[in-house]
Amino acid sequence: MELGPGRTAVVTGGGSGIGEALCRAFAATGMNVVVSDVDGDAASGVAGAIADAGAGGRAIAVRTDVADRASVKALADEAFAAFGSVDALCNNAGVVSFRNAADMSDADWDWVMSVNLGGVVNGVTQFLPRLIAQGTEAHIVNTASSAGLFAPPGMASYVASKQAVVGLSEHLREDLAPLDIGVSVLCPGGVATRIVEAGRNRPDALGGPEDVPAHAEPIRQGIAAGMPPEDVAARVLDAIRANALYVVTHEDTREGVEARLAEMRAAFAR
Ligand SMILES: NC(=O)c1ccc[n+]([C@@H]2O[C@H](COP(=O)([O-])OP(=O)(O)OC[C@H]3O[C@@H](n4cnc5c(N)ncnc54)[C@H](O)[C@@H]3O)[C@@H](O)[C@H]2O)c1
Repeated sequence: MELGPGRTAVVTGGGSGIGEALCRAFAATGMNVVVSDVDGDAASGVAGAIADAGAGGRAIAVRTDVADRASVKALADEAFAAFGSVDALCNNAGVVSFRNAADMSDADWDWVMSVNLGGVVNGVTQFLPRLIAQGTEAHIVNTASSAGLFAPPGMASYVASKQAVVGLSEHLREDLAPLDIGVSVLCPGGVATRIVEAGRNRPDALGGPEDVPAHAEPIRQGIAAGMPPEDVAARVLDAIRANALYVVTHEDTREGVEARLAEMRAAFAR
């Protein structure tokens, strides 16, 4: 799909990190952007910076909790009311909890699954009927992770949620191709964002905000030294233009994918 003036992108988790970089990259093509985030101030900051830069169409901020279906419905209402159509939808908001399954409470599971998987499902249920009804070419990008392609240790709910996002994206890809709606799934390794501090957004009903656990310090350092989010965003826009399914960004995640495939091949050979 072509990207540029007259088109509109909606990005969840657009107030920080990869989502912010996606918003800026869409705006740089001249597109309108809906910057959506549970942190309303962060979303407003990004939309304001885009407007100040003056590169694109219009940018608006919408406070949205992707785990809340009514909130995502309101996001779709605002996006279509402001711009009349949506061409690119990035279901990007996500959180992480650094725990193995044996160490997790029900609330630990519910928080991560409701944002990472529930958020993508809500994006699909609330936007897809309108994308179909508008009858024009469109594209959905779901942010998974390299943890959607294999299972790194110490993050049980993150792996479960991201593998589900990969599977859903693969299904949507086939499902929506006849409707001219492309689907990509973003599977990056470490990207220099605030993801390790995801506990800042944990709602009170599911345990409340939490600090980065001490055992996650090596991960924090790895993420801080990770790929710039702008580089990831550029790859995503290329994938939309090319209608590519998988967006992999880190050569160092190949080993995990290959090991998983080798296990599966061995299972067939038994
Ligand atoms: N940074 C990495 O290394 C990395 C690697 C693989 C995948 N990812 C994925 O990239 C996506 C973006 O994360 P990031 O790395 O930019 O982190 P980030 O913390 O910098 O940005 C995530 C944004 O999502 C928002 N958010 C959190 N909960 C929300 C909710 N319920 N509703 C709406 N918005 C919510 C946050 O306020 C924040 O602005 C996530 O899905 C994450 O899992 C990140």
